[in-house]
Amino acid sequence: MTGMHHMLAHFPVAFWALASLMILVGVLARGRLADLCRVALLPVLILGILGALATILSGYGIWTLEALLHSPLSRNHLLMAFWSLAVYLMLLVLVWVGGRDAFAGRRGLALVVLGLLGAWLFALTGTLGGHLTGAPTVFSALPRLLGWEVYTTFYVPTWVLGVMVLLAIAVAVPGFRRSKRAPR
Ligand code: HEM
Repeated sequence: MTGMHHMLAHFPVAFWALASLMILVGVLARGRLADLCRVALLPVLILGILGALATILSGYGIWTLEALLHSPLSRNHLLMAFWSLAVYLMLLVLVWVGGRDAFAGRRGLALVVLGLLGAWLFALTGTLGGHLTGAPTVFSALPRLLGWEVYTTFYVPTWVLGVMVLLAIAVAVPGFRRSKRAPR
């Protein structure tokens, strides 16, 4: 059964890599290819989310939660998988609701930042999966350079969570105000 998870994992990894690339081209480039990327991004994001849900379900179907939560490496793999899912879900909502406007100006910049963050997170998810199967790659050197040893549970100090909540409020409040002022 483990082969099922290994096989399914290719879907979110491939669709999310493609989605992040399409965001970069769709926001930063001009011309026919950029137009195509803007039009086709939504179905690619939907396929990525469906692939991720199947991969996650396969994980829970195969391994017990007790075993998964016992090792720092699998805890980190789970954490990064859910963070990747959260970022690409956010992208899906932004592109779905914003349509063509999602790629312009500051909205486009938000897509690029989230697209790069998502790419970083799913690359970490896959890398940690590789560690779990006994096939580590040189990619782990990057988080190590940033101060995180992947064999230890990922930890964020409480004050960082506080700053993240404040930042979220600082971004959400002007957004709500503007949406109320906008003509219907
Ligand atoms: C978007 C979600 C996920 C992605 C992209 C992903 C990706 C991967 C990849 C690429 C591998 C290595 C496979 C190989 O080397 O052939 C792997 C292994 C693994 N994953 Fe995931 N994974 C995800 C979610 C999960 C979840 C939710 C769980 C647990 C509930 C899980 C548990 C595991 C375990 C235990 C292994 C090691 C398998 C083994 O030793 O044979 N993964 N994963």
